[in-house]
Order: sequence, then C-alpha cells, then structure tokens
Amino acid sequence: MRVLLGVPTPIFLLIVYGLCPSMTIGPKEGWQVYSSAQDADGRCICTVVAPEQNLCSRDAKSRQLRQLLEKVQNMSQSIEVLNLRTQRDFQYVMKMENQMKGLRTKFRQIEEDRKTIMARNFKELKDRMDELQPLIPVLEQYKTDTKLISQFKEEIRNLSAVLTGIQDELGAYDYDELYHRVMSLESRLRSCMSKLTCGKLMKITGPVTIKTSGTRFGAWMTDPMTSPRNNRVWYMDTYTNSKVVREYKSMEDFVSGQESRTYYLPFKWAGTNHVVYNGSLYYNKEQSNIVVRYSFETGRVLAQRALEYAGFHNVYPYTWGGFSDIDLMADEMGLWAVYATNQNAGNVVISHLEPETLEPLSTWNTEYSKRNAGESFMICGTLYVTNSHLTGAKVYYSYDTKTSTYEYVDIPFHNPYFHISMLDYNARERALYAWNNGHQVIFNVTLYHVIKTEDDS
Ligand SMILES: *[C@@H]1O[C@H](CO)[C@@H](O)[C@H](O)[C@H]1NC(C)=O
Ligand SMILES: *[C@@H]1O[C@H](CO)[C@@H](O)[C@H](O)[C@H]1NC(C)=O
Ligand SMILES: *[C@@H]1O[C@H](CO)[C@@H](O)[C@H](O)[C@H]1NC(C)=O
Ligand SMILES: *[C@@H]1O[C@H](CO)[C@@H](O)[C@H](O)[C@H]1NC(C)=O
Repeated sequence: MRVLLGVPTPIFLLIVYGLCPSMTIGPKEGWQVYSSAQDADGRCICTVVAPEQNLCSRDAKSRQLRQLLEKVQNMSQSIEVLNLRTQRDFQYVMKMENQMKGLRTKFRQIEEDRKTIMARNFKELKDRMDELQPLIPVLEQYKTDTKLISQFKEEIRNLSAVLTGIQDELGAYDYDELYHRVMSLESRLRSCMSKLTCGKLMKITGPVTIKTSGTRFGAWMTDPMTSPRNNRVWYMDTYTNSKVVREYKSMEDFVSGQESRTYYLPFKWAGTNHVVYNGSLYYNKEQSNIVVRYSFETGRVLAQRALEYAGFHNVYPYTWGGFSDIDLMADEMGLWAVYATNQNAGNVVISHLEPETLEPLSTWNTEYSKRNAGESFMICGTLYVTNSHLTGAKVYYSYDTKTSTYEYVDIPFHNPYFHISMLDYNARERALYAWNNGHQVIFNVTLYHVIKTEDDS
C-alpha cells in the first residue's frame, strides 16, 4: 500500500477580537480582516479585528446587518458540510487504524511462538506490518485535522455571536466598511476551505447501483456547479451516431424514468466522455478533435474548438475503444481535456480549458500510454488513470498538474458488471459516476487532505 507522508500541518485560525479592542491593532476607521494565506508554519490564518468604539460611525442599518449575519451563518453551514465529509473520511481512517492494531497484536503473538510456525507465513505477516508502519504518522495527522475543523466551527459560531451583538447595538458601525470586511472574510474562508476539501485519492468504495438501463456504453452525469437542490441528471446512451440527451429533474426522477426534457444536439458525439459543467454540456464532435460547448438553457452551441494535435476516431482511445479518444472532465479546479497526440507518442496529454472559450490554459504531457488506460478522472488537479476497463481494474497511475510529477498508485475498486465505459469525478458530491455495462453506478471516494498554502494563489 502506498502511504502519504510529509503532509504539511493544516491549520485554520479565525481569531475574533472583542467588539472594540483596547489594543491598538490595525487602522482605526473600521473592521479589519487580516488574512494571510499562510504563516511561517504554512497555516491558513484569518483574523478579524473590530474597530475602536469611539471612532465607530452610527449609520448602519439593521437589515443590512442581518444580511451580514446570514452570510456568516452560511459560512457556518459550509463548514458543517466540510465537517461531515471529514468525519466520513475519519471513520475510514479509524477503521484502518484498528485493523492495524489488530495486526500488530497478532504479529506479536505469532512472534512469541514463531518457532512453531512456518517461516514463510511469518515473513508475509512481517512484510504486511512493515507496509503499514508509515501509516501511523498519517493517522495522527488525521486526528489533528479533525480537531482543527471543530475548532474552526466554534470560531465561526463566535463570529456569529459577535455580529449578533453588533445588531443589538444598532448603528454602531459603518455598514459599507463592515460589509466589505465580511465579504473579504468570506472569500478568504472559502479559499482556505477549498484547501481543506481537496486531497489525494486514498480509497474508492461502493459502487451503489442507481439504475440499470441503456446499452453497454454510455454516459450519465450531474452538474457539479449547481446547488444540490437543483440536481438534474443527464443521460447520453451509446458512444456513436447519436445526438439525443435526456434530462431528468432529480435522481429520483432518473430512477423512476420520469424524463423532463430531451435535447437534440446539433452534432453527433464521439465516445462517452462528455461532461456537464456550470450549465453547459462539453463533448467531442464525432470524427473530429473538436470540443463543443452546448448550452442547455439556450439550446445553442456557445463555442467549438479543435484540440490541437489530439488523436480522434479510435487513434488513441481508452482500452475499450468506442471513439473514447478525447475525455472531457471537471474537478475543483475547473474544466479539463484528456487525450493523446503523436507529438507525445500516443501518451496521455492533459489540458486545462477555459470553460467559455475552450482555449487551453496549460498543457501537460505525461508518459502513460493512452491506449493502455482504462479510464481517467481528475480530482483536485490530479489525474488518476485506471489500467483496464474490465474486472480487476485499479487506479494505477496519477499525474499531479500542480507539480508536473507522476506516481504509480494501487487503488482497487469493485467493478460489479464487468465492463466500464465511463468513469468521472463529481466534485460537489465527491463521487465517481460510472457507466458499468448498462448499469449507472456511483462510487464514493475518500480523499486525504493535503494542505499546501505556500504555492497557490
Ligand atoms: C445564504 O444561503 C442561502 C441559501 O443558499 C441564499 O439564498 C442566501 O442568499 C445566502 N445569503 C447570503 C447573505 O449570502
Ligand atoms: C468562543 O467563545 C467562547 C465564549 O466566549 C470562548 O470560551 C471560546 O474560547 C471561543 N472559542 C474560540 C475558538 O475562540
Ligand atoms: C458559471 O456560470 C455563471 C453564469 O453563467 C458565470 O457567471 C460563472 O462565472 C461561471 N462559473 C465558472 C466557474 O465558470
Ligand atoms: C457515500 O457516502 C455517503 C455518506 O456516508 C452515503 O450516504 C452514500 O450512500 C454513499 N454512496 C455510495 C455510492 O457509496
């Protein structure tokens, strides 16, 4: 098993000083939000300092303050979501820890009477133990992370209380100033939070079968950029000679077959590697290396662009064929295209795309042969490649676009229906959507949070 080491300490601090602090920190005219992406130890710090009492203007309005309060409450809800996710991962890590402890005990027992046991068994167990050994610091780190999130929650709650206090003392603050500070705090909190939510793929669980429908090959998805309450499902059966997209209002409607709309695309698609991102469908136009952006709202093509040098029409498909040469996907960092070129000897090429114009923002050449890849998906700017579309497939290779480095990994996942023709990550749900031989299934993923503050911005 591969183990993540050297993870920087993720810390989130939000310090709320008293309503009007006696100390002379910062400018005197209003609220001050200090937020550095990092301190010396690589931590995320947000500091809120209230203005001095005697300089506070008295023209704030209660309605506006209520809105600010609501904003802070919203932030608090986001933290709650984050907390739930972390708890889920934490459970998994705890389970691992228990298994490891059990193994350790067993190991000790066996060691005691090792004379009576075959040397080979003993060695096997010892090897397994050695493999697990580096996990210990990771487990410790995980516990620290969970504690920090709870602390962050409490601090948000405190900030809420401070704002409620201000509301009671109406008129004590300059609204514009306060508004500006809270907005700025919010965006900084979001940026700190996205660091906490991103991470390295550690485990894939499931899948859960949502529905059985369609041919062996197809694609289905939800839009990671919409709110969970607006969870439309799109369904695109078959990999060739089709332009019909079916839409369902919700997962329940999808399961019961209650279709809400049908779209007829202006061009047929190739393969099964389409993605819906922020209200648009991105897909590969058949027999070309053109990426099409189609708006569901207007029913029109908003952009088309050829991916330079990209192979198409089964020149560089995934292992199962099916014109799966060009794979479009989205993650926490935006929209991506994965394909292969002659220039890169048929190996996987990754392009980060501008979602409106489809212009490639950056491109990375990997050394993994596209024709030997079962599928690939992107999580937090790292591409994960499976080694087959058949039973026994695992995530085998990963390429981190932030560092332009690759790694061989070994993350197994269950393939209950033999053949996988689509596998894509949904960042909102932190899940993998798959088309598993005429079954629409969802896997959960466990990410280990790797927080780096020094290199992003
Ligand atoms: C808080 O969240 C709700 C629901 O997402 C939204 O309608 C509202 O506008 C948000 N309030 C503020 C002040 O951002
Ligand atoms: C939140 O406020 C409570 C009560 O004022 C205080 O005891 C606690 O230390 C504060 N928590 C944080 C994390 O600042
Ligand atoms: C999503 O779409 C909205 C409106 O169409 C736009 O304002 C916003 O910038 C888009 N977001 C991203 C990340 O592309
Ligand atoms: C993923 O995890 C969530 C929360 O634990 C659970 O409700 C859901 O059923 C899981 N889904 C899958 C596909 O395993």
